Amino acid sequence: MQQLPLKHQTCLVTGSSSGIGQAIAIAMAKAGANVIINYHSDEEGAKETADKIKKNDATSEILIQQADVSKEEDVETMFAEAIRRFGTIDILVANAGVQQDAPFHEMTSEQWHKVIDVNLTGLFYCTRAAIREFMRRDMRPTVSKARGKVIFISSVHEVIPWSGHANYAASKGGLEMLMKSLAQGYGKHKIRLNSIAPGAIKTDINKDVWEDEEKKKELLKLIPYERLGEVEEIGKTAVWLASDESDYITGASIFIDGGMTCYPGFIGNG
Ligand code: BGC
Repeated sequence: MQQLPLKHQTCLVTGSSSGIGQAIAIAMAKAGANVIINYHSDEEGAKETADKIKKNDATSEILIQQADVSKEEDVETMFAEAIRRFGTIDILVANAGVQQDAPFHEMTSEQWHKVIDVNLTGLFYCTRAAIREFMRRDMRPTVSKARGKVIFISSVHEVIPWSGHANYAASKGGLEMLMKSLAQGYGKHKIRLNSIAPGAIKTDINKDVWEDEEKKKELLKLIPYERLGEVEEIGKTAVWLASDESDYITGASIFIDGGMTCYPGFIGNG
């Protein structure tokens, strides 16, 4: 891959104040892109992402932008600010996502709506704004073969059912069909849409599991490769998916899961 494959491009990463989003923002900047770091409530985390980017000696510029992706006005303002600052956006990484777990018969409507609103409706607002921007301007052949690129951060639970987390699995399953429907429709406009579907990556979202030795042991039984993933492994793939190296890939979900989707529970069973 070129040394700075995303030079002269601008990338917005939602939910980049921690975890996978933070690692993606850092990786995008390292690849030469200007980065919009979006956060919902963790301003300190967003600043930390910016500091980590600066420490890497990245030459890219940074804009920190607060927005609740589940609020249409917030998303519109965030895109307007980003476009005012950088002229346009080339890459959207729709990463912001939450879990609100409960047995289904005990799930409150707040828990249901929170997850669907952030994980699915938030993607609708952000992706619509990105596609509108890609269509508004001309192609930028000196920076990329594609008019624009969208990467959804999904989950293995777009295909693996997850009892006790039905709202989350429903949001991720919905996200897969949203991505594929858009890839089908916007290919002719040279807009690429893909998903990265991580398995168990070590972040705050699943800290209660990997911090507890017993729970971690049980989790590892679900991963043929017998380790958790690291956020940097998602960052690298996101850069590649945003670059011209993957120009013929659209409508795909790339699983980064140590084989979790190979259902290791079936080894010697079934
Ligand atoms: C969830 C994690 C979980 C992983 C594998 C992810 O989408 O956010 O909490 O560990 O899937 O089940």
